Amino acid sequence: MTTPSSSTGPFASTFTSNSAARTDAERSAVLADPGFGNHFTDHMFLAEWTPDAGWQDGRVVPYGPLLLDPATAVLHYAQEIFEGLKAYAHADGSVWGFRPEANAARLARSAHRLALPELPEDWFLGSIRELVTADRAWVPTGEERSLYLRPFMFASEVFLGVRPSQHVTYSVIASPAGAYFRAGLKPVDIWLSETFTRAGAGGTGAAKCGGNYAASLLPQQEAFAHGCEQVAFLDSVENRWVEELGGMNLYFVQADGSIVTPELTGSILEGITRDSIMTLARDLGHEVVERKVGIDEWRDGVASGQITEVFACGTAAVVTPVGRLAWAGGEVDSAQGEIGKVTAELRAALVDIQYGRAEDRHGWMTQLV
Ligand code: PLP
Ligand code: COI
Repeated sequence: MTTPSSSTGPFASTFTSNSAARTDAERSAVLADPGFGNHFTDHMFLAEWTPDAGWQDGRVVPYGPLLLDPATAVLHYAQEIFEGLKAYAHADGSVWGFRPEANAARLARSAHRLALPELPEDWFLGSIRELVTADRAWVPTGEERSLYLRPFMFASEVFLGVRPSQHVTYSVIASPAGAYFRAGLKPVDIWLSETFTRAGAGGTGAAKCGGNYAASLLPQQEAFAHGCEQVAFLDSVENRWVEELGGMNLYFVQADGSIVTPELTGSILEGITRDSIMTLARDLGHEVVERKVGIDEWRDGVASGQITEVFACGTAAVVTPVGRLAWAGGEVDSAQGEIGKVTAELRAALVDIQYGRAEDRHGWMTQLV
């Protein structure tokens, strides 16, 4: 049955409930061990854009396949962007998003770079509120559990000419999530890609578009072949400056307690976790420096003890310690199998806010339901 949506969104959206929704028992079985990215909730949000009508037809509908004409532009020219954020269940039953306004702003920046239409912030927030309201029962509780939200937008015009699409579809899907890395809080091993870069100067590195991830998959395969879970990318000009991992930003803890992260260059994704860690680290008394970090500084710094901890951060990975950095011909290990003290301190400060266990001093949490 389709009814006007009960929530007071910025758009007159409709709600069609899923008559084939999973039973309580089926949902509980999924929530007991969700993993990451494996399972999806009973509904999804959809909206359409054309140059004449703007954004329209917001709707929550049963989760299911999209029927695409083979000539749909996104399948050929990859005009697509996405976001990733999490909804957290708090002890009182309320559900909260972590800085969703920052995701809305980044989606707008990505849209600009990919010549897609900007989605207004109130549409972004309205779409995730409506989906989380419809699928409230899918928000997991418990340690490290959350509902991962994946808003995305793509060129849905049926046309093979190379120009910005005149029909664009926006959607949000939701996936109950546990830890991104199966091993939990064990340090991840990183393969240094010296052959491939993720993003070039003037390219799309700072946008969250599917093409960047496509470019990271071959080096990611190389990483797996070398027993590593993630790839570290260097800049494309000098092949010298550390940028980020395929899906996470990087931090280096120095022997004096200060923390360093590669400065934004235009080819690094501006992570919301990265930005939040900067504030939390300062709150905890650490000096934080954004600057260029050379790959030799990483290798030599770990070997000499100047770098005491390395960690990766992002929505999916939260804060994850980095262990080995391996490359063709050598490796260094900055963790020896354990999460470092500063990494653990920053991780706890972040997740305590996200799960409502610590005061939200920076006004980062937005109630969704
Ligand atoms: N860098 C890349 C390439 C990513 O895919 C992500 C994940 O979204 C990040 C960094 C971290 O960004 P955020 O903290 O906003 O999730
Ligand atoms: C996220 O953290 O939201 C991402 O998009 C990273 C991806 C590797 C899952």
